[in-house]
Amino acid sequence: MNFITVKTYDELSTKAANIIAAQIINKPNCVLGLATGSSPVGAYDKLTEYCKNGIIDFSTVTSVNLDEYVGLDSSNNQSYRYFMNKNLFDRVNINKEKTFVPSGTADDIEKEGEQYDKLIKSLGGIDLQLLGIGLDGHIGFNEPDEYFTAETHLVSLDASTIKANARFFASEADVPTKAITMGMMSIMQAKKVLLIANGAAKKEILEKAFFGPITPKVPASILQLHPDLTVIYSEN
Ligand code: GLP
Repeated sequence: MNFITVKTYDELSTKAANIIAAQIINKPNCVLGLATGSSPVGAYDKLTEYCKNGIIDFSTVTSVNLDEYVGLDSSNNQSYRYFMNKNLFDRVNINKEKTFVPSGTADDIEKEGEQYDKLIKSLGGIDLQLLGIGLDGHIGFNEPDEYFTAETHLVSLDASTIKANARFFASEADVPTKAITMGMMSIMQAKKVLLIANGAAKKEILEKAFFGPITPKVPASILQLHPDLTVIYSEN
């Protein structure tokens, strides 16, 4: 594991964007695993800038996102599909048809999960998976549990996650209680994993996840077993 501590969010975003840009330059037809939340916004801004300046080209990139709220469709401004369009896809020259986000409005979420895993497999897996981390140690929406779940699956969000994500909604009552998330199999099979965490509030969970025991009670701790993991933490 490569654990990098930086001083500012800007530095974190530049380093993360540079790692993603290097991936695209090295393999123009790569599969990027992408994340939502507040942490990647700065990196997406930098990638947009690099694309506008001709440093990187998204035209042959495919992306698969980690997760989506159940019940929110792409037109809902709280959906993760909407977030990705707004923060990245609508700003760079990616082919939208090659950007995938699990559907939170599928009739059968379990089936949607199976199809999502098949899709990732058919793409040859993920070259670089970008992750944030929840205060309870979740990655994607894999919440603390008695076991790790391998496949893309339906989850009930923990009360602490609903509370943490309420900042993006009008009220806590508006936060969906369920989500569909990639499981640990696709994440752990990604060739490279890059996890970014911003702010002192994340320090404690990072210590548990990366310097404590590997346990499903701290889902991100499984990443200690990944052969090519980079964590970037910014204190401020
Ligand atoms: C959400 C997302 C996660 C993300 C986490 C942390 O719950 N499902 O993928 O990593 O929030 O968010 P933030 O980056 O805003 O701290």
